[in-house]
Amino acid sequence: MAEVAIVIGAGGEIGGACARTLGGPGVVVLCVDRNEDAARETASRIRGAGGEAEPFVADASDSSFAAAVVTRAMQLGPVTAAIHAVAHEEHVEAMAISLESIDRSFALGPIAAFSLFRELASRAALANGAGLTVIGSLHATHAFEDALGYNLAHAALAQLVSTLAHEWAGDGIRVNAVVPGWIRTRGEAAFYEDGYLDEAGLKLPMRRFGTPDDIAGAVHYLSSRQAAYVSGSFLTVDGALGASLATLPGASQS
Ligand SMILES: NC(=O)c1ccc[n+]([C@@H]2O[C@H](COP(=O)([O-])OP(=O)(O)OC[C@H]3O[C@@H](n4cnc5c(N)ncnc54)[C@H](O)[C@@H]3O)[C@@H](O)[C@H]2O)c1
Repeated sequence: MAEVAIVIGAGGEIGGACARTLGGPGVVVLCVDRNEDAARETASRIRGAGGEAEPFVADASDSSFAAAVVTRAMQLGPVTAAIHAVAHEEHVEAMAISLESIDRSFALGPIAAFSLFRELASRAALANGAGLTVIGSLHATHAFEDALGYNLAHAALAQLVSTLAHEWAGDGIRVNAVVPGWIRTRGEAAFYEDGYLDEAGLKLPMRRFGTPDDIAGAVHYLSSRQAAYVSGSFLTVDGALGASLATLPGASQS
């Protein structure tokens, strides 16, 4: 029976890159997304490269989501990796954000990840040493403005990683995060005017945005046997963006 890798948000650019990098001999990638066309596209790219993959349409904010995904995964084989790569982000100042928007950030972030991971663990769907990985964010630790809901949800997602890694270490279940810097994706581009990101990228420490493949490489490592003793870890892949944010007020910036 094949091993199974689950990617939530597999139709997105980061999720899609993760799904492709996890595809390989003996692995079926379950490409989960609420966007059917996007899930199909990722699955067909994996199959086109000689791998096995299946699109699975589900909304991570539905209460039936985790049970449906895990039921299908268990029909395919033991799960060796599960990746959570979805979020709700709204750019609005704290005085104006709705409670519904904050709820949605939590629902798609820590609640969806927890529902999926607990369903996998409680139904014994995981192979020993399986790696559960979330796409975290610098927003978990840095108070970026006009992003209260997203900041809160990513902080909670980080605690989910630490708490589950601690509680489940004895069960052979590893839980980690990849913490990207600024990755130029369609989701990210939707927040900005045309041209803004071209200039912003040049001002980043490495003079470029990160790519989905930069993130997928770290996810691949954390999901692999080479990371057998890695759990509760936050693997930052940000081109030194987080380090560069340590600037005192009033200090000159280049
Ligand atoms: N882009 C960045 O700079 C960046 C930085 C740090 C962390 N991240 C994290 O990476 C992850 C992916 O970001 P991205 O920029 O690739 O996003 P994206 O918008 O390009 O892709 C997200 C995917 O998730 C799917 N999706 C959205 N809501 C869903 C739902 N309710 N149920 C199922 N699928 C749903 C979308 O259809 C889309 O295919 C997010 O968790 C985000 O917080 C992104």
